[in-house]
Amino acid sequence: MSLKIVGADVWLGKERGFEKKQVLIEDGVIADVSDGIAAPAKEVLDGRGKWLIPGVIDAQVHFRDPGHPQKEDLRSGSVACAAGGVTTFLEMPNTHPATTTGALLEDKLEAAAQKSIVNYGFFIGATSDNLDELRRAERACGIKVFMGSSTGDLLVDDQETLERLFAKTDPATVIALHCEDETRVRRRAAEHRGRTDPAVHSVVRDAKSALLATARAVDLAQRHNRRAHILHVSTADEVELLSGRPDAVTAECAPHHLLLDIGDYERLGGLVKMNPSLKTSRDRDALWRGLSTGALDCIATDHAPHTLEEKRRDDIWQVPAGIPAVENSLGLVLAAASRGMCTADEALHWLCTAPAEVYQLEKKGRIEAGFDADLCLFDPERRHTILSENQWTRCRWSPWHETQVEGWPVTTIVGGRVAFQDGRPNLDCRGRRARRAG
Ligand code: DOR
Repeated sequence: MSLKIVGADVWLGKERGFEKKQVLIEDGVIADVSDGIAAPAKEVLDGRGKWLIPGVIDAQVHFRDPGHPQKEDLRSGSVACAAGGVTTFLEMPNTHPATTTGALLEDKLEAAAQKSIVNYGFFIGATSDNLDELRRAERACGIKVFMGSSTGDLLVDDQETLERLFAKTDPATVIALHCEDETRVRRRAAEHRGRTDPAVHSVVRDAKSALLATARAVDLAQRHNRRAHILHVSTADEVELLSGRPDAVTAECAPHHLLLDIGDYERLGGLVKMNPSLKTSRDRDALWRGLSTGALDCIATDHAPHTLEEKRRDDIWQVPAGIPAVENSLGLVLAAASRGMCTADEALHWLCTAPAEVYQLEKKGRIEAGFDADLCLFDPERRHTILSENQWTRCRWSPWHETQVEGWPVTTIVGGRVAFQDGRPNLDCRGRRARRAG
């Protein structure tokens, strides 16, 4: 199996940017990146007029397999990934049942090997009594801690369990934390129960709730000198805290917190209810600054497929939190880059390279000889309108419905095989587990 991609502007990382190169792929691995490759290949892909970039690594998605495959299973979720230029996803444990044991993790890995057309990794979820399972979970991409409750019933917010987790789990495994202060959120929910407007969600899950929990997580990481990753940072205050973070801490933010704010409840109502909640435009601007100064490392979607019926419930308190986004993040973030929010080099670094560094994924995130041939051809001139009815996610809607952009992924390659092209997935393609280096 060999494939040569010719004529494309190849993205060689944040420092070098784009250069016209040819790329040779052999047996799923990048064999050569140079000006003119004489070696023949079985297939040749014409990349003229396109960018060749490393596939996006979406390090935070929620699929619903097992539990609610009618909303998303590993097949539909992986197809949505491939459609959006995502070649690896890391999936969260709040499925049904929740992934809290090594055996349940193995079940997911087995199911993904059968169904996923892109590469995958799975988190194991922390509970108050599964320390032994967490300590043995070397095949998990990380340990997930819900310090604030969200979809599902995973929650660890007592100090004793958190200290034990940080002290006793394998230091090589990243602890990824959902940071919202549960006590404060519950109190504020009780206080504001009478309100019926969608924006109440951001009043209940306010900036202080996020800051309190993030400060607590940073403190734990610092005292235990333990790798921790703060998920979906949503506030200016957290960015400020993280700009002085210890080396052991990394952080990410989500496209919705970069592109939307509390002003969007008026237009989108419960559709944009998510945890952590949307914040102000000032917070939104601070996230962009946090990425460019290095207080935040990467972008991941928090893709959460709830049905449109659920999201349109009249009672905002009964609307589940989360939005689907996995197939739109690359196009939307690069569109933001072309509007001047950041450079394309920065955007690609945050989406494609940095997640591999955060989770120490072996041979992922770069176009370099020896790295896995997980790639995306992106057409910077392709006009695209995001339409709910065209989404590949099984829940089939998007908060960015009718958004028009210039520039869209057109071909996705996973392990040297075309996984998505000409608007269609290749269902014969199979991803593999993204391994941790070392
Ligand atoms: O809004 C969210 N939805 N935040 C989470 O942390 C979980 C997610 C889901 O799984 O629905």
